[in-house]
Amino acid sequence: MTTQPLNQPTTTAPKNATFETVLEVEHYTDTLFRFRMTRPEAFRFRSGEFVMLGLMNEETGKPLLRAYSIASPSWDEELEFFSIKVEGGPLTSRLQKIQKGDKVLLGKKPVGTLVMDALTPAKRLYMFSTGTGFAPFASLIRDPEVYEKFDEVMVTHTCRECAELTYSKETVEATLNHEFLGELAQGKLRYYDSTTREEHPRQGRITTLIESGKLFDDLGVTPLNPETDRVMICGSTEMIADTKALCLAAGMVEGSNNAPADFVIERAFAG
Ligand code: A2P
Repeated sequence: MTTQPLNQPTTTAPKNATFETVLEVEHYTDTLFRFRMTRPEAFRFRSGEFVMLGLMNEETGKPLLRAYSIASPSWDEELEFFSIKVEGGPLTSRLQKIQKGDKVLLGKKPVGTLVMDALTPAKRLYMFSTGTGFAPFASLIRDPEVYEKFDEVMVTHTCRECAELTYSKETVEATLNHEFLGELAQGKLRYYDSTTREEHPRQGRITTLIESGKLFDDLGVTPLNPETDRVMICGSTEMIADTKALCLAAGMVEGSNNAPADFVIERAFAG
């Protein structure tokens, strides 16, 4: 059996995708990595949306595509993604090996509900994430529109272990120190991280931290309130269901692109 080097696609891209070039890859843990790639000029998206992404299977000549949240903001000339690595996973077992110069398939039609358009105006925006669910928020916290619409932006990230928080921590720090974004984000953007399976200053699932009130006590704010707060949720199916239940219990209404409201949800995609 022969395998083609990743950076030499011998087939043409399918109609609904383009080949883009990997510009940078950073590995955080055995299970998480980030990469950047070229962005076609015609590729437009709203911060928070997802798109199909993948590789050609050189043996079958067929594309292998999965949904991925775009982690870079809509103004960025490049595209960034935050991915898990699944051992034996059809796509991520190969994708985790990409290097600078390799070609990756990018779908042409980004979509999604974790967008500013799906929320009605309010004072405070919460973004609750677990695992790779932080990806759409890495996009949104770097979008000036978020700071035009909200006075306070609270982004939370919960993982099993501390090292899994590196990407979110570094992205928030870089945003606050950014030449232009820094001015908009400072005083508005707040980061709240926690772990569930390793010692950390803040421990526990986000749902537990909301229910116990610890999250709000730590941030010095009042509990979830549809009058003042909006929520975006991204994580596993179970995490979304449990966090959504807490929003509903607080009297919040789920929004969509067609009917903006108090909170929106999207599953963190896995390979
Ligand atoms: P836990 O360690 O208690 O399962 P995973 O890696 O399994 O996707 O989990 C990522 C993070 O999401 C972990 O910290 C995990 O906590 C947490 N988590 C898993 N299920 C839920 C849920 N139903 N509600 C809130 N957080 C959850």
